[in-house]
Amino acid sequence: MAEADTTLSAQPMFEPPRHVAIIMDGNGRWAAARGLPRAEGHRRGVEALRRTVRAAGELGIQYLTIFSFSTENWSRPASEVGELMALLRRFVRNDLAELHANNVRVRIIGEREGLSSDIGRLLEEAEGLTRVNTGLTLIVAFNYGARQEIARAIKRLNDAVTKGEVDATTIDADTVSRFLDAPDVPDPDLIVRTSGEQRLSNFLLWQSAYSEFVFLPIHWPDFDRAALETAILEYRRRERRFGGLVAQTGS
Ligand code: FPP
Repeated sequence: MAEADTTLSAQPMFEPPRHVAIIMDGNGRWAAARGLPRAEGHRRGVEALRRTVRAAGELGIQYLTIFSFSTENWSRPASEVGELMALLRRFVRNDLAELHANNVRVRIIGEREGLSSDIGRLLEEAEGLTRVNTGLTLIVAFNYGARQEIARAIKRLNDAVTKGEVDATTIDADTVSRFLDAPDVPDPDLIVRTSGEQRLSNFLLWQSAYSEFVFLPIHWPDFDRAALETAILEYRRRERRFGGLVAQTGS
C-alpha cells in the first residue's frame, strides 16, 4: 500500500504564511562541531539557502527574507568578512540565472554605501534582471541593520516633508512604513531563527510588530524543507489576534 503523504503541502486547505523571514544562525557552531573551519560552515550555509529558496517556492510562500550580512558582521575578522563577501559574489554569479529561470524576484534591503563597488553592481544586477518576475520574492538583507533602516526611513521622510510632499502633522506609523527599504513588501508573518538563540539581533524591528517567532535548535547548514515545514506547522498552531479579541489563525 502506498504510504500516506504527511508533508505539509499535502494537507487539505494548506495555505502557507505569505512572508517568512529567516535569521540564518549557527554556521560557525556547525563547523566547530565537526572540526572544520568557519568558512566551511558558511559554504554549507549557502547550500541550505538554495534548498530553502526551492522549498519556499514549492510551498507557495510569496516572500522570503534572509538575513545574510548584518551591519554588526563588519566587526568579525577581516578574513571572515572577505569570505562572506566572496560567498555573496559566488551566489549571485552561480545562482542568479537559475533564480531568474524559476521566476524568482530578488530584492535587496540594507545600506548600499560602504560596500565595494563590484558588490553594489552585482546586487543591482540581481534586482534589475529579476524585476518583472512574479514568483517568490527573495529579499536579501545585506549590510542590514533594522535601527539603521529606520534611521534611513526618517531621513527620507524628512526630505519628503522638506519638499512639501508630506505634511508633518499627518505622520503616523503607516507613513513611516512607506519610507522603509522595501515599503511594498507585507510584514513577515513568521520569523524563524536557527541555532537556538531567541533574539532578533537588529533584524526587521519595525516590520516584526505582529510576527510569530519560531526558534529551531538546529544550525543553519542543516536547515531544509522539513525544518521549514516544522516552523510553519508551529506557526499554524498559534493564534494571531493583532491586538484585538478575535483570533486569526496562522493563514
Ligand atoms: C550566522 O552564522 C550566519 C551568518 C553571519 C551569515 C549567513 C550567511 C550565509 C548562510 C551564507 C551567505 C549567503 C549569502 C547570500 C551571502 P554564524 O557565523 O553567526 O554562526 P555562529 O553563531 O555559530 O558563529
